[in-house]
Amino acid sequence: MHKLIVANYKMNGDKRFYSSIHKKLNNLKLKDTELVLCPPFLYLPILKIKHKKIKIGSQNISNCVNSKSTGQISPNMLKEFDVKYAIIGHSEVRKIGETEAIIAEKVKNACESNIIPIICVGEERKNSKIDCLQAQVKSALSLLGKQEIIFAYEPVWAIGSGEIPCVKRINKAVSIIKEEAQTCGALVRVLYGGSVSVDNYQSLLAANVDGFLLGGVSLRIDEFISIVKGIENE
Ligand code: PGA
Repeated sequence: MHKLIVANYKMNGDKRFYSSIHKKLNNLKLKDTELVLCPPFLYLPILKIKHKKIKIGSQNISNCVNSKSTGQISPNMLKEFDVKYAIIGHSEVRKIGETEAIIAEKVKNACESNIIPIICVGEERKNSKIDCLQAQVKSALSLLGKQEIIFAYEPVWAIGSGEIPCVKRINKAVSIIKEEAQTCGALVRVLYGGSVSVDNYQSLLAANVDGFLLGGVSLRIDEFISIVKGIENE
């Protein structure tokens, strides 16, 4: 089954890493799997990816529409560097002040430039209810018409912690997200993200998801590739 795997490198890596990852990725045999690599903005121009199934994404996008916006990166700038996807609403960005309203503006900005948003949603704590997903989805889609959208269910407590939710909880989250998105008129794909590793990805394949968002493990390129190959051969 077709799967999307997104590598979120966060604020990691250096010139050497980004200018050499193509050596291991350009020869990957991919039929049913598509990859999206999301480096920090600065390194976008030095990636040398030449592969039909590997696309480039950004880790954020501006909500501003006015060019008088110091420090911001617009969708049109990203498009000049072949960016096709943008991660929006990651919990690490929400934590430093990004609101639901700003997320909705970023999603709108991305869609208007044909950049596909990968919107991260998820509950804060392991013992919290996951009803918050409904409001997060509704708000993120509030400024949109019909668009191609991707959500990543990323429970905040699972990110970088080594802990993952059970398949039942992931499936429940996926159906909440899909139902709410449908009410808003959007057809969406849903990924899972948070502590995916070489040791647990196979068990996560039992969940009803369209792919995965990988953080830490994407930096360990051989482990990353073995997950990609494992998913491709499923
Ligand atoms: P992790 O990060 O895989 O290191 O938990 C996932 C993410 O933050 O997107």
